[in-house]
Amino acid sequence: MAKEVIDPWSSELPDDYRKKIKQFGLEKFEVNDFPNPNLLMRRGIVFAGRDLKRISKSIKEKKKFYVLTGIMPTADKLHFGTKSVIDQVVYFQKQGAETHVLVADLESAATRGISLEEARRRALDIHIPCYIALGLDPKKTKFYFQSENNDVTSLAYVLSRRATLNEYRAIYGNPEPSRIMASVLQVADIMHPQLKEPMPGIIPVGLDQDPHIRLSRDIASRAKEFKFFTPSSINHKFLPALTGDLKMSKSEGNSLYLLDSDDEIKRKVSRALTGGQKTLAEHKEKGGDPSKDMIFELFKQHLIEDDAELALREKDYRAGKILDSENKAYATELLQKYMADFRKKYADARKIVKKMFD
Ligand code: TRP
Repeated sequence: MAKEVIDPWSSELPDDYRKKIKQFGLEKFEVNDFPNPNLLMRRGIVFAGRDLKRISKSIKEKKKFYVLTGIMPTADKLHFGTKSVIDQVVYFQKQGAETHVLVADLESAATRGISLEEARRRALDIHIPCYIALGLDPKKTKFYFQSENNDVTSLAYVLSRRATLNEYRAIYGNPEPSRIMASVLQVADIMHPQLKEPMPGIIPVGLDQDPHIRLSRDIASRAKEFKFFTPSSINHKFLPALTGDLKMSKSEGNSLYLLDSDDEIKRKVSRALTGGQKTLAEHKEKGGDPSKDMIFELFKQHLIEDDAELALREKDYRAGKILDSENKAYATELLQKYMADFRKKYADARKIVKKMFD
């Protein structure tokens, strides 16, 4: 059997998370290790990671550590899955992490053919303001573009000595040169906060990015001259499209985006896959299954903060006391409220970003 690899540039997504923990040597996420866990952590959306104890210890002992994320500015809008990553970054920022956010403009140039100008425009108009609107503190966050950070590109060259082609084949399958360049650069992104001073760092990622984490950990431990801490990672499950489809590319029109209009929200929610029964009578008698219901997925991952409220709603749905139509109306209302607030924050954030990058 061919050894299974994850391709970080594809939109294929794993469906069996438990198997993946074993297969890729991840460690299970223990919610009790972390103070003030956020909703993704409390509800099993965050499910795994690497070297997590090192980070929970840094938090508890108030020692220095950092959180870092990067985004490829390929899309003109951000879907709700991106919100999960930023929710995680915001969590660690609030626990005291030094925060780094980069725009992977060289990666998108190499792997997607997007010009540096176009990447810059998208990052400044959309991505960075959305990140701030999601709760990142712009005063406490170091933003950079890969193409403008010489420390990072230089580090990438130095670290490239520590990787082998065999290792690349094991991690990525059969990588093209553009992908090799992008992944060495990503290792440098991940490690560069430690150039000043070695310290633990945490990288929140979907499982698709785990190959880059493994490569970073291998290279960091081999490049002894830097005395790097191997980077930690924390993984969350993907937010399925409203149709239940795990693959974003197939379900463009069915995914929720930040800044969607009230009409778009209404239309998308109305088409969502639910765990309800076929007829009203049957639903009232047998009840629905929240675990197969995309509206509940939204409640759970993004819309209902209060654990008791969510539990009660699930119970009533299982008992047939709440209908799909009622759930959908409530989700639409919550989302429209959320988005109205988000639009305001986004408008403010754009002004901040203009000043920051002028
Ligand atoms: N490869 C990431 C993506 O596809 C972007 C990225 C570049 C990144 N450098 C990073 C993510 C460092 C996390 C950490 O979106």
